[in-house]
Amino acid sequence: MRTAFAAREFTDDTLPDDVLSRILDNARFAPSGGNRQGAHITVVRDARTRRRLAELGAPAARRYVAQLMAGESPWNPLRPSGVPQDVIDATEIPDAFVAPLANAPVLLVVSVDLGVVAVLDQELDRVGIAGGASVYPLVWNILLAARNEGYGGTITTMAIAAEDEVRRLLGIPDTHAVAALVPLGKPVRQPTRLRRRSVAEFVTRERFDGPAFEG
Ligand SMILES: Cc1cc2nc3c(=O)[nH]c(=O)nc-3n(C[C@H](O)[C@H](O)[C@H](O)COP(=O)(O)O)c2cc1C
Repeated sequence: MRTAFAAREFTDDTLPDDVLSRILDNARFAPSGGNRQGAHITVVRDARTRRRLAELGAPAARRYVAQLMAGESPWNPLRPSGVPQDVIDATEIPDAFVAPLANAPVLLVVSVDLGVVAVLDQELDRVGIAGGASVYPLVWNILLAARNEGYGGTITTMAIAAEDEVRRLLGIPDTHAVAALVPLGKPVRQPTRLRRRSVAEFVTRERFDGPAFEG
């Protein structure tokens, strides 16, 4: 947990099916609401399909970068972006947004059957978040399991903004939500230290505005 980083650069090593199979066989013990296990994983090795999936994420990545450059918090659901569309369209995206999906030996497209997911916040007047809890533990388990085998990857979400096209490309039914595209491969390097807030910075006692939990 302390060293599992977002791997975006991979060596030329393959990720053989038997290793991927072990990764998925460990990851499948992830929890889901009511143990309904609505996730589906499409294993994409075909290079053209991976490149197409990377391209489908490009418009969202352009907006992400344009918002960052304008000092906004990209894609946040509270404050609409003030960046004009023509500025977004003209924004160059770093290779780091496209290359991992195109260059990894394998790309997992994780979707989840909305027909079995309990979404407890669906009637609240805000963007839904609870449904993700029935699929992201599996996604994170995949990354931890991959690390256990000497591999790594990243949760990517840019292509979700083009979900219809992702579904069409891979034949995913429209009752499934696309939750993540996860490139996996052998990382080129291992960072020495991950930058994360300390516990006392985001944990409080008894109330949200209670004293910091210092342990
Ligand atoms: C929900 C979610 C969405 C993410 N989407 C992307 C993405 O689209 N592209 C990408 O390169 N990284 C993506 N990431 C990776 C994060 O940028 C990364 O986990 C974070 O910067 C911490 O990186 P580190 O573990 O290497 O320190 C995403 C991570 C999460 C949890």
